[in-house]
Amino acid sequence: MIRGASQVVTVSGRAPRRGKALADIGVLRDGAVLLRDGVISAVGPAAKIDKLKESKSAEVLDLDGRVVLPGFVDSHTHLIHAASRAEEYELKIQGAGYEEIARKGGGILNSVGKLRAATAQELKSRARMFLERFAEHGTTTIEAKSGYGLDVTSELRILSLHKELDAEQPLEIVSTFLGAHVVPAEYRNKASGRRDYLRLLEQELIPEVAENGLAEYGDVFCERSAFSRAESRQVLLAGKKHGLRPRVHAEQLSNTGATRLGIELGAASCDHLEHLKPADIRALAKSDTAATLLPGCDFHLGLKQYAPARKLIDEGSIVALATDFNPGTSPTLSMPMVLSLACTQLRMTPAEAITAATLNAAYSLGRDRRIGSIEAGKQADLAVFEVADYREIPYYFGVNTCWLTMKRGEVVHMRD
Ligand code: NIG
Ligand code: FE
Repeated sequence: MIRGASQVVTVSGRAPRRGKALADIGVLRDGAVLLRDGVISAVGPAAKIDKLKESKSAEVLDLDGRVVLPGFVDSHTHLIHAASRAEEYELKIQGAGYEEIARKGGGILNSVGKLRAATAQELKSRARMFLERFAEHGTTTIEAKSGYGLDVTSELRILSLHKELDAEQPLEIVSTFLGAHVVPAEYRNKASGRRDYLRLLEQELIPEVAENGLAEYGDVFCERSAFSRAESRQVLLAGKKHGLRPRVHAEQLSNTGATRLGIELGAASCDHLEHLKPADIRALAKSDTAATLLPGCDFHLGLKQYAPARKLIDEGSIVALATDFNPGTSPTLSMPMVLSLACTQLRMTPAEAITAATLNAAYSLGRDRRIGSIEAGKQADLAVFEVADYREIPYYFGVNTCWLTMKRGEVVHMRD
């Protein structure tokens, strides 16, 4: 039994949340949560939970006035990569653009070179260290994309690591195939190169990934420097044919129409969305596709144009938040930091940001029936913060207030 919390932020109720319902986080004061075998068996006022028969024999964890939330669901990460790109960070500060660096062979291709040179063991221990950090910041489930391999061996190696890591450590990993991140260098020096790479994705990689159950979702970076809308359609459809549900990197640096493509193909989520047009916002609001915002990218790249979160929420789209943890545009694994950015840069309220980072993110991963809120019957995935009011979670920034993280009822992080 968990008790003594100043607030239990339940986020209970219907998913996904749109419009005003996004702020509806169901705060219980002096609440208690009863867990059994990794599942939440009851939640409510402490006085009521105390009277349950099960409570008599329960082991008690006293939160001493702290705040408990559903564990964060980080629905967009590029977990597996070999090294940072701190050298490009410095160039960007000195004025070089993200796309300019990419054109000169840096950017994603820089990470691809480094990943191919790394051993599976090196990649795995690096990812393990990151997973521990995710847990330290209150995250209990992450989505992870491939996309720094871009050849058959390396892409399959990344996806196999997702699977191994999911089995070997406590956090849950949802695997996404992002073979269409960019066209790899070895396909760029002849006219048919792009077509050849798309053929490799369609005819070899996607079938192999699907056959071995290595991914649940298929993603594409639809951007002027990566894949066109027509190419993205081809890749997403090929994935869909093999059971990979689409997700899309959409309108990050320019408007390509990727959002409308995603909606048309029934994508689980369109992500980034800095360059949305009013018609895209209306289309998202009418659809069941989540709009996943990644303010860490704009912050890290020093860009001023954040996604139009207010308009998305007010028109009724399903807004989610994620870190986009990756070495090129968003090297953070802190969901609390993302909440801080969501509040100050996207003008979301702390309550809206919490729903977007838990229940709506769980929806975007097809898991809202099992995770994303503190309700009887849901998995016991919880995060406790050393604060007295949930608004203090985004209020403090650049410091980690997460005190304890629990996955399936098991403590996976506790501050000493
Ligand atoms: O989500 N936009 C595409 N992919 C990553 C960045 C990749 C990189 O620069 O390494 C993103 O921002
Ligand atoms: Fe990304």
